[in-house]
Amino acid sequence: MPEIKQTPTASEPISNGATPHANGAESATLKERQTDAIPPQRGRYAHIVGWGYHVPEKVITNQDLEQIVDTNDEWIRSRTGIAERHVAADPKETSATLAIVAARKALEVADVPANKVDLIICATTTPEYLFPATACLIQDALGADNAGAFDLSAACSGFVYGLAMARGQILAGDAEYVLVIGTETLSRIVDWTDRDTCILFGDGAGAVLVAASEVPGGILSVDLGSDGSGGNTLIVPAGGSAMSTSLETVSSGMHYVKMDGKAVFRFATRVMAASTRKVLERAGYTTDDVDLVVPHQANIRIIQNSVLNQLKIPAEKVFVNLEKYGNTSTASIPIALCEAIEAGKLKPGYKVVFVGFGAGLTWAACALDWRTPVERQAAGWWKSTRRQATYSAAAARSMWKRAVRWVYDVLPDPETPGRDENPKEGPEMPIKESGGERIKE
Ligand code: ACO
Repeated sequence: MPEIKQTPTASEPISNGATPHANGAESATLKERQTDAIPPQRGRYAHIVGWGYHVPEKVITNQDLEQIVDTNDEWIRSRTGIAERHVAADPKETSATLAIVAARKALEVADVPANKVDLIICATTTPEYLFPATACLIQDALGADNAGAFDLSAACSGFVYGLAMARGQILAGDAEYVLVIGTETLSRIVDWTDRDTCILFGDGAGAVLVAASEVPGGILSVDLGSDGSGGNTLIVPAGGSAMSTSLETVSSGMHYVKMDGKAVFRFATRVMAASTRKVLERAGYTTDDVDLVVPHQANIRIIQNSVLNQLKIPAEKVFVNLEKYGNTSTASIPIALCEAIEAGKLKPGYKVVFVGFGAGLTWAACALDWRTPVERQAAGWWKSTRRQATYSAAAARSMWKRAVRWVYDVLPDPETPGRDENPKEGPEMPIKESGGERIKE
């Protein structure tokens, strides 16, 4: 793992884990923050130490969309800022496969083996299945044998929600390393005949490794919000328990994204600024202290309206890459973070904000005191080979476990005699009573 650097001005952490602001402005709001923020375990901090992203190769430009729906490049650019997006054209490319590549890169940057990861949080609106969780498929492919894994559903705010969960686990002392992933194949749930939505979205995945450290800094404060009364403004109506999939739901396109763009726009511009203010205050920062904002990449006008106009943070401190990728939902912030690092926009000592919004409706922000060195040292051939070997071993182990399960399935089960003679009706379930916990129905 890269050595996380001490901040030269970092003093003893105040009760919410924030590094006190140099001008002492924290005192007025300290009381409020003490009750507002989660108090960290003393001397324990959550830092991002690894990062990676992956997008599908296929690019769809605005000109390509002109061939599909009644739109044009000028309208899309001026109303959204988007010029092109990557889509998973190969059916073998899925939310899990994109995420696995991104997660491996994050582990490589951090130089941490997969078996050290304690928890995998996969934020996604396009999971592989309703269940099992996509996070579990990622866990299997990484060979992260010591990790818990779950999916997180908070739409485009999901990645920041995931960071907040990771921070909580680390500060509580329950985890040392948490992988937080945002991954999407939105092209699979977008109606390619609906010009209101199909121009907006793209596919991709981004991942970060969050690690426990004694060095003050890292993820200092978080703000999570929701307003379910606006759930119908951005929704995939069918496929869940409210409207299970049927011929009718499919023929009427109810399994596609439906959106009231104007309502989402109004909501987004309101919450982005408010949530950013909250996390800055909780961290003891002002907007003047911010070195870099990585906002959810949905629409350039939303970013301009909220971050630039309302918060008065200058454009050079706001990283935007939506021109190339469109809105990749949960993946947009981690992809933008990776590209900001590649572009030299992030350095140790920088005060950083991630802020997003999405369906739910949800919003989320976090403020970081970035301490991790960002220059990447190319891994030696031996390390790369060893890493590749561990992934091959993980694949072999997974196959072996499946084979063992298959053998158990086909062999006669000594505990349920008769099962194989009359498989349709099946034997009575052999339920063992144990301390009243298992109750026969
Ligand atoms: N090409 C050309 N014209 C279009 C297109 C298009 N692709 N889409 C709409 N129009 C037309 C409309 O029909 C309308 O025409 P009319 O005036 O004749 O009725 C006109 O353009 C203006 O349409 P508006 O909907 O008013 O356009 P607006 O400026 O609101 O922009 C947009 C629409 C881009 C969708 C904007 O509202 C927006 O970005 N909203 C937020 C959406 C968002 O971020 N969603 C993702 C949330 S994150 C998540 O959880 C997935």
